[in-house]
Amino acid sequence: YVIGVDLGTSAVKILLVNQKGDVKQEVSKAYPLIQEKAGYSEQAPQAWVDQTIAGLSDLLKEFDGDSADIEGISFSGQMHGLVLLDENNKVLRNAILWNDTRTTVECQQIYDVVGEKRLLSITKNPALEGFTLPKLLWVKEHEPDVFNKVTKFVLPKDYLRYKLTGALHMEYSDAAGTLLLNVTEKKWSKEILDLFELAYDFCPPLVESHEEVGTLTHEVALATGLLTSTRVFAGGADNACGAIGSGILEDGKTLCSIGTSGVVLSYEASDDKDFQGKVHYFNHGAPNAFYTMGVTLAAGYSLSWFKDVFAKDEDFDNLLAEVESVPVGSHGLLFTPYIVGERTPHVDATIRGSFIGMDSSHQRKDFVRAILEGITFSLNESIEIFRENGKKIDTVISIGGGAKSEAWLQMQADIFDAKIVKLTSEQGPGMGAAMLAAKGCRWFHSLQDCTDEFLNEDRTYRPNKENVEKYKELFNLYKNIYPSTALLN
Ligand code: XUL
Repeated sequence: YVIGVDLGTSAVKILLVNQKGDVKQEVSKAYPLIQEKAGYSEQAPQAWVDQTIAGLSDLLKEFDGDSADIEGISFSGQMHGLVLLDENNKVLRNAILWNDTRTTVECQQIYDVVGEKRLLSITKNPALEGFTLPKLLWVKEHEPDVFNKVTKFVLPKDYLRYKLTGALHMEYSDAAGTLLLNVTEKKWSKEILDLFELAYDFCPPLVESHEEVGTLTHEVALATGLLTSTRVFAGGADNACGAIGSGILEDGKTLCSIGTSGVVLSYEASDDKDFQGKVHYFNHGAPNAFYTMGVTLAAGYSLSWFKDVFAKDEDFDNLLAEVESVPVGSHGLLFTPYIVGERTPHVDATIRGSFIGMDSSHQRKDFVRAILEGITFSLNESIEIFRENGKKIDTVISIGGGAKSEAWLQMQADIFDAKIVKLTSEQGPGMGAAMLAAKGCRWFHSLQDCTDEFLNEDRTYRPNKENVEKYKELFNLYKNIYPSTALLN
């Protein structure tokens, strides 16, 4: 067996997986978000560690095999979160998370000091509030007493792994989201560190995702029931692990994952494409590979918002089922899902959403279909960026909320104008972490071999020509809404 630990934003999810890729056990343990002010989002690193140890211990209590048969463990983690350590590797303050937006000033400072072009050429990404360097600069400016004690910074799952093993590392797929990594050279950027007078020593040694970094400490073994011989592998960023766990490991493969936010993520074999920073460009968890990614901030969240306000007592399945009887175009109703701002392609925290074309004959189901269409149009803007830059998007694996409704899966095929594949079982990032452990334990030669064994396709949805044409027209209208509604702010 191997264990995949997915350190998420609301909970840690732990999977026990056998050599066929079957999930034998599953445990989830929640921890709170700390939101002291609007835009602030923090977490206590100790809560991640405590809940992971409690989760592993629960898992082992239920396990009826021999703990010596659990060969390895690896991790997937929420990206970008800043964990600051002192000279004894003690945590100096709460972690500032990926969805904390206090750093607009620091992002501008990064452009002013590094220059947008230079930043893109080193990190392949723009300065976004969620990324790690702006958070580091915020602490430097606002909490100098804390900052003066910093000797290292790490990311959430790297801190967790450190507490389980005593070995401190960062791996490339997560380091790529710090704005301090030279993504192409796979080295910390001395140039950026120097420009902000940050010590090179702040950055931990870098390893590959499947690399073995140590074994469990005695204390952790005792507390969980695992053995000190359990091999620990570095793991990856949650999006990289989500990609691995869905088989996005070769050119032409793209993932559409709809949770609270939505992600369209595509495999890149090389680092030489230039998307001008319009989509994120990160190191993959597979060695020497990359992925590009666009993010819709309110994907599933648009639907849960609508349900909370207008259909509180209805369940999601019923809401989604009603949509089947509404034709393409939702009887003339169009929705833009910018209810908490938008990331790709607009990078605009102030834009807000809209319903356009309301008619007195519209019913609730028309609104629900319009919401699904709006979310899918927003994700299609990322697909359009990929295509405009020469990428072929022919197969999209759909996971998450978007894969829970036949109508939505067909809608994705028609709006993306691509074949949509649904998997028989999807575990996303936790499964990707388990696969990294399986590869590390040498169960397979490559991650690709592992996905061939672990993943199965369930159904394929092909684009319907007539619908594709209708959606093309509507997509053009959809794109025109942004510039007009941006004026409302
Ligand atoms: C990626 C991002 C999120 C987090 C969520 O850039 O901010 O997807 O990784 O955990």
